[in-house]
Amino acid sequence: MTTDKNSENLPWVEKYRPDSLDEVFGQQDIVDTVKKFVHEGRLPHLLFYGPPGTGKTSTIIALAKEIYGINYKNMVLELNASDDRGIDVVRNQIKNFASTMQIFSKGFKLIILDEADAMTAVAQNSLRRIIEKYTKNTRFCILANYAHKLNPALLSRCTRFRFNPISEEAIRDRISSVIIKENLKIAPVAESALLKLSKGDMRRALNVLQACKAATTEQEEITEDMIYECVGAPHPQDIETVLDSILREDWTTAYETINKYKQVKGLALIDLISGFIEILNRYELKSKTRIDIYKGLSDIEYGISKGGNEKIQSSAVIGVIKAALESQAN
Ligand SMILES: Nc1ncnc2c1ncn2[C@@H]1O[C@H](COP(=O)(O)OP(=O)(O)OP(=O)(O)O)[C@@H](O)[C@H]1O
Ligand SMILES: [Mg+2]
Repeated sequence: MTTDKNSENLPWVEKYRPDSLDEVFGQQDIVDTVKKFVHEGRLPHLLFYGPPGTGKTSTIIALAKEIYGINYKNMVLELNASDDRGIDVVRNQIKNFASTMQIFSKGFKLIILDEADAMTAVAQNSLRRIIEKYTKNTRFCILANYAHKLNPALLSRCTRFRFNPISEEAIRDRISSVIIKENLKIAPVAESALLKLSKGDMRRALNVLQACKAATTEQEEITEDMIYECVGAPHPQDIETVLDSILREDWTTAYETINKYKQVKGLALIDLISGFIEILNRYELKSKTRIDIYKGLSDIEYGISKGGNEKIQSSAVIGVIKAALESQAN
């Protein structure tokens, strides 16, 4: 499939997918090492692993373009290993691909196995034979989220690279250029919120930014509230207000505040609980109080996940926090 990068409706994750290794941000060590492999002409089998949206697929595609140039598609076979077509289909595809004549003789072809950690143990087992059989004229690049889900024998055949969550600075560098190219107006606090909420996932950063753009007019500025809304995360200020009400006000008022924020702002109790814990982590509390609160809240969280009644669970949240603070005061 050819994608026109100027197309208006292209998702930004595709529009801004790195074309070269120099456009891969925040993974400098990995980029430097693979570049060295290419320049020295001794590419080993590779394993890229790490959390989503950190550049694994982007790096290998950029690497392929670096090695083969514009015709890279003829030299690269991309397989989605989690496809349930079975290892036999994969084996046949690899066999056909690896044994066809090389028109652009560049030594070896590249086979990319995406989502390899989703393969069954049996499939992984036969994969190691396949890798060995075709090593003469092909290189494999295995992509996965978790290395521990891969067969050790498979791991030992590859040079491993861990893709860490991308730093906020690196995301900022990449996002800034997108902001300029897309002519976006964004408040500095909104940009900081975007970086924080992305949690090292560049895909999420781009998707949220694109969703915000769709929600605004040309001249309108993207605000912090919009970012929280697009991510579906509650605004920290709202959580703080609710917690404050539980801590300082009487039972009935606190209960009304929770309900008001749940209804008006669409906050889920589960988000409130994780938000409370984040805030309480910064408070000075006796360790017994802290333990009581966390234990109580985690029971409630479990209760919610089991389908417990929200109203009862909301009351329980107030109960847990108030009870723990009362015993702290005594
Ligand atoms: N390091 C990076 N530098 C620049 N852009 C990036 C980087 N990582 C991710 N992106 C952007 O995010 C999108 C998704 O990245 P990519 O497909 O490489 O993630 P991945 O690590 O393969 O994730 P997954 O584990 O979900 O497959 C890319 O199209 C690109 O726009
Ligand atoms: Mg990927």
